[in-house]
Amino acid sequence: MKNILIGVIVIIVLGGLGFYIVKNKDASNYGGGSLLSQNTETSQTPTTTALKEKTYTLADFSTHNSKESCWSVINGKVYDLTPWVSKHPGGESAILSICGKDGTDNFLGKHEGDEKPEAKLATFYIGVLAQ
Ligand code: HEM
Repeated sequence: MKNILIGVIVIIVLGGLGFYIVKNKDASNYGGGSLLSQNTETSQTPTTTALKEKTYTLADFSTHNSKESCWSVINGKVYDLTPWVSKHPGGESAILSICGKDGTDNFLGKHEGDEKPEAKLATFYIGVLAQ
C-alpha cells in the first residue's frame, strides 16, 4: 500500500516536471523566446548597417556606365560621378571614359596629389567595392 502511494507521488512529480519542460520549450520556440530573438535582431541590424560601409559588386556598378548614371571605382572606393560629368573642368569625356569601370589609373594619372580634384572626388563617395 505504502509502495503504491510512493509510486503515485513519483508519477505525479515526474508528470509535472515533464509538463513544465514541454511548456517552457514551447514558450521559447513560439512565444517570448522568439519575440526576444526578433527584438535582438531588429535592434542590432541598424547598428550593424550604420557601422558597415555600403559595399558594391562589379555587377552593381557596371550598369552605371553612362551620362545618365555614372559610377566609378577609384582606389577600391565607389563614386557616383553623375552630377560631375557635365561640370568637370577637364571635360565630359574624361569622366565618361571611366563610368561603370575602374578609373583609378585615369584619375591618378591626371590628378594624383592635387588637392582640388581629390577633395571634389570625396564628395561623390557612396561606398566600397566588395572584395
Ligand atoms: C573622377 C573624378 C574626377 C574629379 C573629381 C576631377 C576633378 C577635377 C577638378 C576639381 C578639376 C579642376 C582643377 C583645378 O581647378 O585646379 C579638374 C580638371 C581637370 N581634370 Fe579632372 N577630375 C576627375 C577625373 C579626371 C580624369 C579621369 C581625367 C583624365 C584622365 C581628368 C582630367 C582633367 C583635366 C585635363 C583637367 C583640366 C585642368 C587641369 O589640367 O587640371 N579628370 N578635374
